[in-house]
Amino acid sequence: MQMRQNTIFITGGTSGIGKGLAEAFHKAGNQVIVSGRREDRLREVCAENPGMRYFALDVRDPAAIRDVARRVVSEFPSLNFVINNAGVQRRLEFTPGTPLDEEGLQDEISTNVLGVIRVAAEFIPHLVQQPTATLVDVSSGLAFVPMARFPIYCATKAAVHSFTLSLRHQLKGTGVKVIELIPPYVATELGGPRKTVGPGGPQPMPLSSFIAETMEALAGDRDEIAIGDAGNLVAATNLDTVKRAFAGMNR
Ligand SMILES: NC(=O)c1ccc[n+]([C@@H]2O[C@H](COP(=O)([O-])OP(=O)(O)OC[C@H]3O[C@@H](n4cnc5c(N)ncnc54)[C@H](OP(=O)(O)O)[C@@H]3O)[C@@H](O)[C@H]2O)c1
Repeated sequence: MQMRQNTIFITGGTSGIGKGLAEAFHKAGNQVIVSGRREDRLREVCAENPGMRYFALDVRDPAAIRDVARRVVSEFPSLNFVINNAGVQRRLEFTPGTPLDEEGLQDEISTNVLGVIRVAAEFIPHLVQQPTATLVDVSSGLAFVPMARFPIYCATKAAVHSFTLSLRHQLKGTGVKVIELIPPYVATELGGPRKTVGPGGPQPMPLSSFIAETMEALAGDRDEIAIGDAGNLVAATNLDTVKRAFAGMNR
């Protein structure tokens, strides 16, 4: 895809992968608009990257997504690129005697699944009017092989993968390219303390390496971009076979 002169809206631009991509695209000569709930962080990111803009947005709120999408498109009619990146991860126990964390369950599903679907739905009518446009959904290697201590998180990412396959199919007659970005374990704020693993445990990919590899891959034309170890998890599911069956079912 074209890596310069895009107008890009990114959810979850206050830290980690979203902030890293926002800054990389900003440096590469794109108009970047970041969003997230923590307005102090949004202000900081924009102050550090003159010209970058922000809109405060909680993707669990459907009315707020509709309102922000309308305001972004009206202020930036050249918008041609949306990155659906906001996400949360929780450790949830389903062992006997552990009460269900109802609030955590709702938070993960509304952020990681409903948020992604609603952001896509609100921006698609504008994106299809552009000569070419891109929509990136951020899933995870854990969409393909779950890690049992994050049972809902992994299920939400499997949902993002499935939704993205169908969305790509539905939009194939338009100028919108739908990409799934599949990160491995990356050193960010996701899940909080889990990032502080000791020697011998799984080590996260440094954020700067992840961003560099992602930018290089986005400059190509792949629909699915699995970075680092995420490639092994995708390979474990034989995605090519799934896609052949998908093509057969969706002729
Ligand atoms: N790091 C990893 O190991 C890894 C691996 C695979 C996939 N991913 C995926 O990559 C994406 C980015 O995660 P990250 O690793 O960069 O984690 P992070 O540093 O915790 O960033 C998460 C971002 O999502 C935003 N966010 C969370 N809830 C939100 C809500 N309700 N509304 C709007 N924004 C919200 C946060 O902003 P506010 O708190 O300011 O709202 C923050 O900017 C996520 O989808 C995650 O699942 C990460």
